[in-house]
Amino acid sequence: MPEVLCRRGRYCPVVSVTVDTREIGPGDDDLVDQAWDLKERIRAEEGVLKQRRGFFSDAYRRSTVHAIVQTGPGPDADQLAGFAAVRRDGYMLFLAVSPEFRGRGYGEELVARAAEDHGTMTCHARTTNENALRFYEHLGFDVKRRIDNYYEDGGDAYYLQLGDDGGFTKRISEFIR
Ligand SMILES: CC(C)(COP(=O)(O)OP(=O)(O)OC[C@H]1O[C@@H](n2cnc3c(N)ncnc32)[C@H](O)[C@@H]1OP(=O)(O)O)[C@@H](O)C(=O)NCCC(=O)NCCS
Repeated sequence: MPEVLCRRGRYCPVVSVTVDTREIGPGDDDLVDQAWDLKERIRAEEGVLKQRRGFFSDAYRRSTVHAIVQTGPGPDADQLAGFAAVRRDGYMLFLAVSPEFRGRGYGEELVARAAEDHGTMTCHARTTNENALRFYEHLGFDVKRRIDNYYEDGGDAYYLQLGDDGGFTKRISEFIR
């Protein structure tokens, strides 16, 4: 696939689509099947996001979901490029961006949209998920503690919190306007 210089010196595949953001409120399962398929693809390819279907669907329906969706062209219209599922207390249950759409700022935009509604954001990440940890640290999340044996498969987690110095919150309001 051809590549293009997309953000700060990184090369990304050329994907000539436009995207839109969508907010899906608690109790609504719009896009839940596409979100599950994306999560399962990432689990198979990257060994993260291993939660089971029952937990996932339940968490999705209880959350506010911020989604980035392709608007075209043709058959790719309405395809999910990424999503963040966030609980009422600002705890992020899921964050995923489709591999073809990474490095374009969509992950940051999803966190930014979620953070707009919350004074503080928190999440867990596997201690082995270096990509996610670098991403979160880049955004200003701090590791608060390590929890051994946190995941069902025995994996360890870090509990992260978006620093309350206001830096990111201030930056995001500029970012998404
Ligand atoms: C983590 C994830 C959501 C990042 O999404 P993304 O859309 O590629 O991230 P963005 O393009 O918004 O990156 C935002 C910033 O973080 C930085 N960043 C992202 N991934 C990074 C990495 N692996 N290492 C260092 N910095 C990184 C980017 O450089 C960017 O900084 P910039 O604005 O200065 O250029 C994505 O890689 C993903 O879905 N991973 C698999 C699922 C997962 O692990 N989810 C988290 C579970 S806890």
